Amino acid sequence: EPLVIAIDGPSGSGKSSVSRAVARSLGVGYLDTGAMYRALTWWCLERGIDLTDQDAVARASRELPLELGTDPASPGVTVDGTAIDTAIRESRISEAVSHVATNLQVRADMQHRQRALIARIALAQGGVVAEGRDITTVVAPDAEVRVLLTASEEARLARRSKELHGDAGAAAVEATRAQVVHRDARDSTVSQFIVAADGVTTVDTSDLDFEQSVEAVLAVVAA
Ligand code: CDP
Repeated sequence: EPLVIAIDGPSGSGKSSVSRAVARSLGVGYLDTGAMYRALTWWCLERGIDLTDQDAVARASRELPLELGTDPASPGVTVDGTAIDTAIRESRISEAVSHVATNLQVRADMQHRQRALIARIALAQGGVVAEGRDITTVVAPDAEVRVLLTASEEARLARRSKELHGDAGAAAVEATRAQVVHRDARDSTVSQFIVAADGVTTVDTSDLDFEQSVEAVLAVVAA
């Protein structure tokens, strides 16, 4: 029986890096659902689709020619043959992605794709770590292991600021705050990822470094 591990959490909780390390450690596949919303956002901007036009964005979602790598060591993201791994992390995408992710037709389409991907990856690679905002609650509520990764707002901002600006100086943290706090607020109108749902184990990484966070999630898996 392939193991499905669902991990949700807000921005800067360490979700992506920890999820990938857990998948590598267990030798299973990996699915970054946030990359799917980012890829759709990139594609809409590329084609000049108005992000507030709900029907047009939903149509783009259904037609999105997306290929996702499932190797946690190098999960490539490709749209229509173009590698967009770096492009989808740009702040113009981070700022726009919630418009796409709060589109309910888009969510239904993405959740449907994600369920199929999780089943396929789990079967092909003996298991899967799937991460996002609604994996423990909506996409894979029956997953054997469900974890909510959290961290204090200050810890999350310091981490995200370091990723984006290379240091966590006060000015960089403030610039990051404006972006991240607003995005989490918008996202939390459509997904439950601030407080764990019933049966979901919370792992608070505020005082844990990367290795300790990975160990903490592996301990939940082993429990
Ligand atoms: O970079 P960060 O970890 O903050 O976010 P991400 O995992 O790359 O996800 C980017 C965006 O996709 C989020 O801000 C949400 O708007 C959306 N998302 C979602 O709505 N549901 C998911 N399961 C995953 C991501």
